[in-house]
Amino acid sequence: MFTENRTVQVHHDYRLDTDNTLALASTAQRLVCLDQVSQIPALQQIAQTEPSRWVLGGGSNMVLAPYIAGLVIKVQNRGIRLVSETATEVIVEAQAGENWHRFVSFCLEQGWLGLENLALIPGTVGAAPVQNIGAYGVELEQRVHSIQCWDLERAQWQHYTAQQCEFAYRDSLFKRAGAGRYLITAVQFILSKASGWQPVLRYPDLLQSPKLQHTINARAIFEAVIEVRQAKLPDPKQLANAGSFFKNPVISQANYERIRAQYPAVIAYPYEAQFKLAAGWLIERAGWKGKQLGPVGMHVRQALVLVNYGGATAREVAQLVERVQADVYDLFQVELEQEPITVT
Ligand code: EPU
Repeated sequence: MFTENRTVQVHHDYRLDTDNTLALASTAQRLVCLDQVSQIPALQQIAQTEPSRWVLGGGSNMVLAPYIAGLVIKVQNRGIRLVSETATEVIVEAQAGENWHRFVSFCLEQGWLGLENLALIPGTVGAAPVQNIGAYGVELEQRVHSIQCWDLERAQWQHYTAQQCEFAYRDSLFKRAGAGRYLITAVQFILSKASGWQPVLRYPDLLQSPKLQHTINARAIFEAVIEVRQAKLPDPKQLANAGSFFKNPVISQANYERIRAQYPAVIAYPYEAQFKLAAGWLIERAGWKGKQLGPVGMHVRQALVLVNYGGATAREVAQLVERVQADVYDLFQVELEQEPITVT
């Protein structure tokens, strides 16, 4: 059932089971869809009476509680436009509800390059900056020009330059400052034309890819990334998951030396004067790769990915998370931090 409010429909007791890639059964007390920014004034009227708000994009980085008391705002405004260009660069704007992978493919077809390493990441354009998506040597923050959002608390537009977004590893101002405050409506990217493009090929999986042994161009990288991801990561449509479930822990050099002395095979990379450990390796060593607890488990090919084999609840996810965190801590004295946002 729904009631009409100016130009925005309010849905009551809206099932979100198919709106989250972990496929958790979840009901939102109230839900509104944002299809166009012209609906913002009407949306604000509804949102300001509701202290508990959540913004939902593709639902690919969220753990939803069975009942979400409050308002869920589903962002689905679409559109892509070229804002400006020089001989070597373009600024491109995408509305927040665009599907991320479709946007990456579209840019490649237009010759707007630089997002190819971020192919096949589930979710929407508007959600991408929230967790500063990253893969195969590129993080979103390197390609963002600016972000347009509506501040639901102050009821006003805010324009953030990339520097103002407080981007960090799988983190941003938008993730920290309460996921229900800023409604990202559009993201502007600064991308390269072929003449200004540089491949990013540091990542071992890409260096070894058969697709990149003879030709190196943006399309070949795009195809190689798709191939690597499909080989390692489960497709949420076939096996429900929210991508990497933990951040790769960043630890001091002394701490890293301690672990390496005991486990010489530990996988780690230098990271801003510290070390980033491969959480998948820690979880595998702790015995959780391919192991299940009730309807959830850690994936058999990538132990960092928590999967729902069917019918799981947020509580069962939390139980597995606690067990994995405790076992990794017992073995390595390293804390694993959950990456997806828990919505209650
Ligand atoms: N590894 C294991 N066992 C496992 C999983 C991984 O030993 O079960 C080892 C791998 O062999 C490799 C290392 O750990 O040597 C790193 O693994 P991988 O290359 O798969 O990358 P990751 O560090 O596990 C991160 C991102 C991914 C991103 C890839 C590629 C995080 C939390 N995850 O994973 O992002 O696609 O690098 O850049 O930083 C996501 O955020 O949802 C996501 C999938």
